[in-house]
Amino acid sequence: MSTQNIKFAYWVPNVSGGLVVSNIEQRTSWDIDYNRKLAQIAEKAGFEYALSQIRFTAGYGAEFQHESVAFSHALLAATTKLKVIAAILPGPWNPVLAAKQLATIDLLTEGRVAINVVSGWFRGEFTAIGEHWLDHDERYRRSKEFIEALKGIWTQDNFTYRGDFYRFSNYTLKPKPLQQPHPEIFQGGSSRAARDNAASVSDWYFTNGNTVEGIKAQIDDIREKAAANKHQVKIGVNAFVIARDTEEEAKAVLAEIIAKANPEAVHAFGHEVKNAGAASPEREGNWAKSTFEDLVQYNDGFKTNLIGTPEQIAERIVALKAVGVDLILSGFLHFQEEVAYFGDKVLPLVRALEAKKLAKAA
Ligand SMILES: Cc1cc2nc3c(=O)[nH]c(=O)nc-3n(C[C@H](O)[C@H](O)[C@H](O)COP(=O)(O)O)c2cc1C
Repeated sequence: MSTQNIKFAYWVPNVSGGLVVSNIEQRTSWDIDYNRKLAQIAEKAGFEYALSQIRFTAGYGAEFQHESVAFSHALLAATTKLKVIAAILPGPWNPVLAAKQLATIDLLTEGRVAINVVSGWFRGEFTAIGEHWLDHDERYRRSKEFIEALKGIWTQDNFTYRGDFYRFSNYTLKPKPLQQPHPEIFQGGSSRAARDNAASVSDWYFTNGNTVEGIKAQIDDIREKAAANKHQVKIGVNAFVIARDTEEEAKAVLAEIIAKANPEAVHAFGHEVKNAGAASPEREGNWAKSTFEDLVQYNDGFKTNLIGTPEQIAERIVALKAVGVDLILSGFLHFQEEVAYFGDKVLPLVRALEAKKLAKAA
């Protein structure tokens, strides 16, 4: 098991409607004041990262969406330690714009910005904004070139690149980002194409919620391929956290979220996501096997089962670490309150369990 402490990130609620497609009360807001305060609470609570979302249109809730790079910069300006991961979609962004934008933000924020290169799953969104809809594996081939170009621009002078999607000739970015060799690059999904990119170009692989076994299978596959490529990659897993003083309370909250789910929005989402993992040649990707209940949290966050008492959750986090997880990406119903509760009640238990395991191994 890694000797490093497991890291924690939270989803930035920069789109409206919260993280579950349900009419249950969610004391979470997508506005900037709420989010600035949340970022400050999170860094105090021991969260190292925040992940913003990129969406151009509504769908399964998310009627309003703040743009991720601008929003991430505002959160960085309101904090001192937190790293903020800005989501970017190849297509609307090309690598040189992303490289330039993020290099500037990195210099303005003492080197705390990171990027999540998403590959796209929402055909309706692409059509609405006039983007070509590539098939599943082509979207990942483009993302791979995007990341190779981004790294080249960030680390080399006179960068030249000849891909099928991007071309550069003797380009020198000045100034380069502050972080060396470059800001961290996250990328994810669950499909074989997403895993192959993780095993060759990304610094971090993000995946949807899943069982410990499901996550282990992905990690084993990635580690084997990464070793063959002499590449290092870390793993982040999504989880919707419901931590309450008793297990009954936590389970009752989950039951209420599902009972109050918005079936039309969940079914519409279920229809759209068939363009993602189920459209991959192996049909192994995100949402390929998700049930109605799973889809109520749009990144399968219930499946990771961080739902229960602080003790139960801490044990499960350490079990995820034991199969190779480096970071938990968390979503909450009432973000500000629950991020603070997580920092007070869950995180110290995780650290104590990690210390105990290390002492045992020594
Ligand atoms: C943690 C995480 C965050 C993501 N964030 C976004 C996002 O902000 N916008 C977006 O369009 N897609 C986002 N995605 C979707 C992925 O880029 C990808 O299209 C999707 O997971 C389908 O993956 P698969 O078919 O390879 O399994 C995210 C995925 C994960 C796992």
